[in-house]
Amino acid sequence: MKLNIGVLAGDGIGPEIVAQAQKVLDAVATKYNHEIVYTPAIVGACAIDEVGDPYPEATHEVCMNSDAVLFGAIGDPKFDNDPSAKVRPEQGLLAMRKKLGLYANIRPVATFPSLLDKSPLRLDIVEGSDLVVVRELTGGIYFGEKGRSEDLTKAFDTCTYTTEEIERILKLAFSYADKRDKRLTVVDKANVLATSRLWRQVAQSMEADHKDIEVDYMFVDNAAMQLIQWPKKFDVIVTENMFGDIISDEASVITGSLGLLPSASVGVHTSVFEPIHGSYPQAAGKDIANPVATVLSAAMLLESLDLLEEAALVREAVNKSLEEGVVTEDINKEKAYKTSEVGDWLAKYIAG
Ligand code: IPM
Ligand code: MG
Repeated sequence: MKLNIGVLAGDGIGPEIVAQAQKVLDAVATKYNHEIVYTPAIVGACAIDEVGDPYPEATHEVCMNSDAVLFGAIGDPKFDNDPSAKVRPEQGLLAMRKKLGLYANIRPVATFPSLLDKSPLRLDIVEGSDLVVVRELTGGIYFGEKGRSEDLTKAFDTCTYTTEEIERILKLAFSYADKRDKRLTVVDKANVLATSRLWRQVAQSMEADHKDIEVDYMFVDNAAMQLIQWPKKFDVIVTENMFGDIISDEASVITGSLGLLPSASVGVHTSVFEPIHGSYPQAAGKDIANPVATVLSAAMLLESLDLLEEAALVREAVNKSLEEGVVTEDINKEKAYKTSEVGDWLAKYIAG
């Protein structure tokens, strides 16, 4: 198979971790006789520095013309500390999501048997946790009307959802629940928000078509509490953009390191695969960041192209590396491997 993969490494540790995922993909390609053509493109702070736009048209073209996109991370402290900055790296990410129609962000959270002791939560709470957060990604308060009053003393952000936007994400969430343990939790704030009441109404109207799925509804504050108290209670969680942003970071704590969790953003055009962590600028260029989240994102990429055996081998390689202690410093400070060493080890394992 010939694969065209857009590579948007981005800022901070982005280039280093993406390079490891490419090593892994190359090893897979060699073993299974695939041909991978990578097309790099700029995004985020580095794109602002280069062309003044965090998601330039040329980058969008690359994404549109690829079979899948591998994404690193974006963000730079020089923008975080300057609230008056007109253009920000994050706008590039939001523009990419909107223009590619990436309305769903899929974040699987499962524990790794060899790393159970890394979770700050008690072993009996986390052991066996296996859930997926399906976050709506192109609507809600992120994209609603926003602004400042003329005298600058008032600001507003609006949360808007249409029935159609809610239906398509719920449909996807139901299909995930169907493939898994057939339990779906709709997380909202229907006791306060009009948009949440619409979400609940739409979800309830879809229940009849999915009789074998057990659906429950939970207010987001309660869900935030239950998620770390009884993570095993959850199978598929579906929620709107902002709640999903928060809940999915919280869910990552279950596994013990943010450096382990992959994600897929899917929708109308090309899907994008990226680690859930950020650009970790303090570690940039030091060869210490954990590449596993990006490597597992590459596994999700392979799955999305129906290369299931290939993806399974990548997952096997990652599990083996964790078991054998071939890990970066976030997992083991005493005996830490470099980012590039982990990538080399994984590629070698795959090559066999
Ligand atoms: C994420 C990130 C982004 C978001 C930021 C960087 C804009 O936190 O992908 O979860 O809030 O969606
Ligand atoms: Mg986030």
